[in-house]
Order: sequence, then C-alpha cells, then structure tokens
Amino acid sequence: MDISRKLFGTMPDGTEVFCWILKNEKGFVAKILDYGATVQSIIVPDKNGEPVDVVLGYDTLEEYIAGDCYIGATVGRFANRIKEGKFELNGEKYELCINNGPNHLHGGKKGFDRCVWFAKQIGEKVVFSRISPDGEEGYPGNLEVKVIFCWEGDSLKIEYEAETDRDTVLNLTNHSYFNLNGAGNGKVDEHVLQMNADRFTVCDQNCTPTGELASVEGTAMDFRNPKTIGIDAYNDEPCVKPFGGYDANFVISGHPFARATGNETGITLVADTDQPGVQLYTANALTEQKGKGGADYGFRSAFCLETQHFPDCVNHPEWPSPILRKSEKFHSVTTYTFI
Ligand code: BGC
Repeated sequence: MDISRKLFGTMPDGTEVFCWILKNEKGFVAKILDYGATVQSIIVPDKNGEPVDVVLGYDTLEEYIAGDCYIGATVGRFANRIKEGKFELNGEKYELCINNGPNHLHGGKKGFDRCVWFAKQIGEKVVFSRISPDGEEGYPGNLEVKVIFCWEGDSLKIEYEAETDRDTVLNLTNHSYFNLNGAGNGKVDEHVLQMNADRFTVCDQNCTPTGELASVEGTAMDFRNPKTIGIDAYNDEPCVKPFGGYDANFVISGHPFARATGNETGITLVADTDQPGVQLYTANALTEQKGKGGADYGFRSAFCLETQHFPDCVNHPEWPSPILRKSEKFHSVTTYTFI
C-alpha cells in the first residue's frame, strides 16, 4: 500500500486541489481528487497484465469545473431525484431547487460534487471531509460528512460517515462511469453484467418513482442471469425506452450485488454495498466530449452503479428511510473489487 499526492489544479479563488494516488500491493491505482471527492482514475491489469484505466475522467481541474455529468464524483446531500424538490420532515416543509425536469437531482446546483473537500491521509486510508452547513441547497442541519477511500486487497473501498446537529435527509453515492474495456474505448454494450436484483423502482417519463416496486421478470431489467448490457437496452419497454437505456434504481436482493466484465480486457468488476438500492445508468445523456488523454466519451461509453437509497424515498415512508437523526451516526460501505 502506497499513498502520495500531487497538485492537480487551482480553483478560481486560489484553493489548491490535490490528486491522491492510492496504490495496492499489486500495483492497482486509484486516483481521487479533493474536488468533489472525485474518483479520477482506477488503473487495473487486463487479462494480459497490461494496465487499463477503467473509469472516465478528465486531465484538468478546469474540465471538472466545466463538466455537468458528475463524472466520478461523490454525490450528495441527496443523490438521485426528489420529486418536485419537495419533502416534509418533522412537520416542516422543505423546497429544494429544481434542476432536472420537474425534479431536484443529485443535491442541487452546488452539490457535494462541486465542493473542495478537506483531505488527509490516516494510516492506509485517505479521508475526505467537509461540513455542509445548515440550509446548504435548502437541506436542514449542519452535516459533518466524510468519504474514506482505501484499497482492501483488490477492493476499492468507499466508506461514508455523517453526523448532523438537526434531523436531515441523506443519500450519498459515487458517480464513477466504468468502462472495463478502458475509458474511451467505445461503448459498453458488449460488457456482460449480472445483478442480484429481483425488483426495480418503476418511474414515470421524468425518472420519478411512481411508488411501484416491480419484478424484473420478463423485462429488460432482468440481470439475474448474466447478459450483455446492450442486449435489451434498446428495447421498446417503458423501463428503458424513455430514458435511452438504463437509468433505473434496482432493489438489491443478494450480495455481492453486481458483477460486470469487459469483453475485450476480461477485467471483472464485482460491486457490493450495504445500501438498499443501486442506480444502473448507462451514460444515456453523456454528451460527446473528450476525456483523459483526448479519449472520446459519449452515449453509452460507460455504465454507473450508483449505490444508494431509493430515489425520492423522502416521499415514500414505506421504503428504507434516508432520514439521519440528530443523535445518529451514519456509516455505509461500498466496494468495487477488480478481478
Ligand atoms: C441519473 C441520470 C443523470 C446522470 C448524470 C444519474 O444518476 O439517474 O438521469 O443523467 O446521473 O447526471
């Protein structure tokens, strides 16, 4: 295990942003930025032992600041959608900004992805922390939040910790865009994916949950047996068609919850979490753009496995609760293992 850091860029206000480089015993590398507590690179060997960077990202801070696709970022205070930006907590009504159709998405205009986090190495981990002040983006409570990255063997482990001085809502995720054939190496349609998910949250055209948890049986959402990402992504079904592919929350029903393999490199990602859901997003709205090393990114050039509470669960008391109470300590773990 080896951890180092180097200057990555400087914010317009002069704040320095560092890139933390975490290397495991086998030489697997994860690079994480202070800006957005963002995963900038994950470099692992392919079937021939050649290093491959399996996540999308940029070479410069300016590109991250200009970007609007949450590439690799930590997303909060509330990942995914809140219907019409409205929720009620302890009898008080809250209204958040609307930044995705009629909904609030990924924490608002300046979510956690756009903040420079305070980072320090503690033992074999790098801890990114910040205080999200009471009222930030309309959310209640001063929230002390930490995202902790380390390698545990061949697993990149992401731990989330949080405490609040007032009851609040919380849904944290990492928005890495994976391409196991290598970032910029075409579409992920031929990747093989298997997911332990029996049900998914049915959504309307705006990706707002209707409240129904439907069985994946007989739909494009059925990944219980391995299949390619592309085989059903272009189907005429209401669970994929309106979104241009997969952009849906699956109810996790077994562990590890997902296993994906790049057809060219043979690199396999095994993903697990203690969260109840995962958004499978197949970069349907990723704009055509250049990424690291001038590589071409765009539609379907990656997939995300955003571990999370269900979208809009603040308005669905029947689902696992995203409420963090004043006296509670939030702790959650997601791992991405490479084999
Ligand atoms: C959302 C998509 C959105 C993407 C990037 C995903 O988590 O579900 O609808 O386009 O993030 O912003």
